[in-house]
Amino acid sequence: MTTPTFRRPTPPSPTLSPRPHRPLNLTVVANRVPIRETDEGWETSVGGLTTALLPVLEEQGGTWVGMGENPGLPERQNYPADDPDFLVRRVPLSTDELDGYYYGMANQILWPLSHYLTQHLNLEDQFIETYRHVNERFAAAVLEETNGGKDEVIWLQDYHQMLSPGYIRAERPDATIGHFWHIPWPAMEVFRILPWSRELLRGMLGCDLIGFHVEEYVGNFIESAEVLLGADVEGNTIRYQGHETRVEAHPIGIDVERFKMMARDPSIEEKAEKFRERMGTENIVIGIDRLDYTKGIRSRMLAFEKFLEENPEYHGDVSFFQIATPSRTELESYQKIRQEVDEVVGRINGRFARSNWVPVNYRYRTYTQYELCAFYRAADAALITPLRDGMNVVTQEFVTATQDGVLILSELTGAAYLLPEALQVNPYDLRGLADSIRTALEMPTDEKKDRLRGLKQTIEELDVHNWADNFLTALGRQR
Ligand code: G6P
Repeated sequence: MTTPTFRRPTPPSPTLSPRPHRPLNLTVVANRVPIRETDEGWETSVGGLTTALLPVLEEQGGTWVGMGENPGLPERQNYPADDPDFLVRRVPLSTDELDGYYYGMANQILWPLSHYLTQHLNLEDQFIETYRHVNERFAAAVLEETNGGKDEVIWLQDYHQMLSPGYIRAERPDATIGHFWHIPWPAMEVFRILPWSRELLRGMLGCDLIGFHVEEYVGNFIESAEVLLGADVEGNTIRYQGHETRVEAHPIGIDVERFKMMARDPSIEEKAEKFRERMGTENIVIGIDRLDYTKGIRSRMLAFEKFLEENPEYHGDVSFFQIATPSRTELESYQKIRQEVDEVVGRINGRFARSNWVPVNYRYRTYTQYELCAFYRAADAALITPLRDGMNVVTQEFVTATQDGVLILSELTGAAYLLPEALQVNPYDLRGLADSIRTALEMPTDEKKDRLRGLKQTIEELDVHNWADNFLTALGRQR
């Protein structure tokens, strides 16, 4: 057997700095607040951003500004109530505001455009108008919660907050403002489709530091500023209207230790074993995504169908377990993709199922991280094939949890730049996808282990705590 050789990319992030002392007073601005109400009371929500930033806020206090989706929630809430670590500041939104800013501008314009899926674009003027107004309200909340002190740092997150940095800068010329963009930044020629591309760029250039997952997006952003605004560019620094903005790649990771611990837990092993028994096949392939048209779930299913057509010897021997977490269900494009996936799954099972074998086990529901960990552990391969994805953290969770699984990864994800050891595929190439399933299931053990070694090493380095520390350190250096 020949062992594959992998071309390792340049290191994913600037040299990892030691955990810094953080002399800062942090205000995080994100669309969603990091706590939610359950039957047992308030708890922190699970998610990459919360995992990364809550330890920082818990250690040194601070504020998290996010939208208030439901009426009746307090505008200011200390958390935890009995011994507060930080303040949650909500910007309460009316139904019209939520529709224009979140469902409209964020999800029907910025989301599809940044993922190069322009067929889903809905360029309504009302959306940008509401978006401007809501970003102004977020900026006003930030100004209220901060006082312009030298140690203050404002860190905005994602495509919901493109104009707020500019609004904050106008009032606080000396503020330290960072922004992290969690999805792809598209090629300049795609970004300029937006009638408001220049206004949005100007808003972003209110920041001192803008972070993206990979160099590709950094390059796209810099080119957008240079071509569309005529900004001066020197290396990674953009100069525009007397202000300097640095643009850097800071790939996000997961809480590696937590996942490793979970994966080692004997109860997870037990759950994984039970799951394998339930599937009842020699091989299990998994797919885990939010139900979103960017995730390539339908193409993946079509590829599995092709695989079954061409490989009858695998009938009864392989199960595909696909989880689709409900997401943005109010939007028509999400209802449509749900229907399309349902149809393909129904057809595949109709064509191939036997009395003791269901080829596709499809679950449209949310699972806990703990449950997901058991699926990762049980799977022989994970098919993670978005049509575009800023990073894709499911990839990292799978690699951390698995012992001998094969990662099949879309080359159109941020993760693909960092993980050359994955079996990389073009998610639009059904032929290639179908072949990759067979390659994964027949991969020699030595090769699997070789690939996993490299993957695990990179993911350890990407740890989400390093991500937050590195970004904040770079932001501190910038001012
Ligand atoms: C992506 C975005 C996040 C967003 C998440 C879930 O990962 O980068 O900002 O929170 O999707 O989407 P939702 O619209 O439900 O917040």
